[in-house]
Amino acid sequence: MRHRRSPWTWRQVTGILFVGLIMAGTVGHAQNRQAPHLRKQGTATQIIVHGKPFLILGGELGNSSASSLEYLQPNWKKFQALHVNTILAPVYWELIEPQEGKFNFSLVDGLIRDARKHDIKLVLLWFGSWKNSMSCYVPAWVKKDVERFPRAQDKNGRSMEMLTSFSRNSLEADKKAFAALMKHLRNVDGRDYTVIMIQVENEIGMIPEARDYYGEATKAFQSAVPPGLMSYLQEHKGELKPEFTAMWEKTGFKTSGTWEEVFGTGLHTDEIFTAWDYARYVEEVTAVGKKEYDLPMFVNAALIREGYRPGQYPSGGPLPHIMDIWKAGTPSIDFLAPDIYHGSFVDWSSKFRREDNPLFIPEAGLSHRSAADALYSIGQHDAIGFCPFAIESIDPEGHRLTKGYDLLSQLAPVILEKQGKGVTAGVSADRDRPETKVRFGEYQMTVSFELLDRYAAPAAETDPRGGGIIIQFGPDEYIIAGSGLIVTFQSLNPERPLAGILGIDEGVYDHGVWKPGRRLNGDQSHQGRHMRLPYGGFGIQRVTLYQYK
Ligand code: DGJ
Repeated sequence: MRHRRSPWTWRQVTGILFVGLIMAGTVGHAQNRQAPHLRKQGTATQIIVHGKPFLILGGELGNSSASSLEYLQPNWKKFQALHVNTILAPVYWELIEPQEGKFNFSLVDGLIRDARKHDIKLVLLWFGSWKNSMSCYVPAWVKKDVERFPRAQDKNGRSMEMLTSFSRNSLEADKKAFAALMKHLRNVDGRDYTVIMIQVENEIGMIPEARDYYGEATKAFQSAVPPGLMSYLQEHKGELKPEFTAMWEKTGFKTSGTWEEVFGTGLHTDEIFTAWDYARYVEEVTAVGKKEYDLPMFVNAALIREGYRPGQYPSGGPLPHIMDIWKAGTPSIDFLAPDIYHGSFVDWSSKFRREDNPLFIPEAGLSHRSAADALYSIGQHDAIGFCPFAIESIDPEGHRLTKGYDLLSQLAPVILEKQGKGVTAGVSADRDRPETKVRFGEYQMTVSFELLDRYAAPAAETDPRGGGIIIQFGPDEYIIAGSGLIVTFQSLNPERPLAGILGIDEGVYDHGVWKPGRRLNGDQSHQGRHMRLPYGGFGIQRVTLYQYK
């Protein structure tokens, strides 16, 4: 039989292939050249850096550390030893604009240079009008001119060391400085993308009053609730936070009137009013910044201690119960983020994860528990990243965070591929949370705190916490990684109601490729009864299950 002649000559075919390769290269190049941005993958939101999803294994610097490059210098090697890939560092308004309109970005440039040299990304924190409620980082020319840049006032009309959010002058000055910063970043980093995200202001909130009593503020408080807020609340009525709905319900969901008419009288209304005005201010600052250079931007919240009332904690910040006010007021902000230092880590992180709000933890108390919290938040809530505070104070040698971040950096490619597809879970275990049940397809896993097992080696710490991440690869195949956990498996299949372990391998991930090590089917798994990740270390195990009757 004669072969049919191809309509294409070899020359044409190689020509097409060549053009195709060039185009693929250009597309890849164009993707790499896209500024860091957020992208949805299933139910997860990921940050895309150089065209690829990126998992932030971060650490925030103590407040003063980024004000001296020399001070910071010896710490970069330490960050690398810790497996930290991102540093959160302040940019201080007073230091970039010491004289009005005269900018000096040498600190920012030095920070970017040093981070790049160590292959570390940066999230910059704009210490502008407010830093933890106060205005301690505004330039001296702002601080001293209270006529032009008026202060918030308490009930007795006494000025506080915080700018009122009701001053156009302050807002315009902050906007100018922030826009100048973002423009500068675009110029010096708009191709290399060492800076991947921006936090706007820091832990905003009114304290010790729940609202500002400055003249303009009181006038606004006695006026009608702005239509922009009212229409947002009406449009999103079915999706509001339950705590907020319960508050609004008390006035029969009134849709017009003064703040007290719509939301009732009390500190909760003072706080809603405060939240709206802070949000409106932040929105304007963020919008001018994004216009110069469109990086993902977020705000962070100081959380409420149990039993505290508005005014006893920094009120009106981007907190869960008033998240909807912030969402209404800040369309340019990508998400609201918790600084978790107290209370239940599990509860706070769950409260900030919402369909329209991915979880990112810019600050958390740095301790031996940090690694467990990182694993939990990334596994359970698809966290964009986790960042303990004062990271430069750590000694990486033997620290549990070093081991936890090592494990997470091995797993990162797998986590990023699987996030948002319903095949990952995170677990946290300590004496207060000794057991969690997790379901995957036809299996239930019971995850318990390993240190409560009689064969566990005692922990060095008095308040240890275990944590881990579970990733499903197939109906019977799982990776379970972490520390301080024992996992047993139950079948949910009525035809074969018993679950058994076919095999467990420990191993490592090398550039996303699984490299199995020892087989653990004897003592290490209690002869096939369970899977154990001892608290004394951090491990990755691959388990294959089966069902029988
Ligand atoms: C939370 C703030 O956001 C940080 O800047 C720092 O002040 C820490 N608290 C200190 O614990």
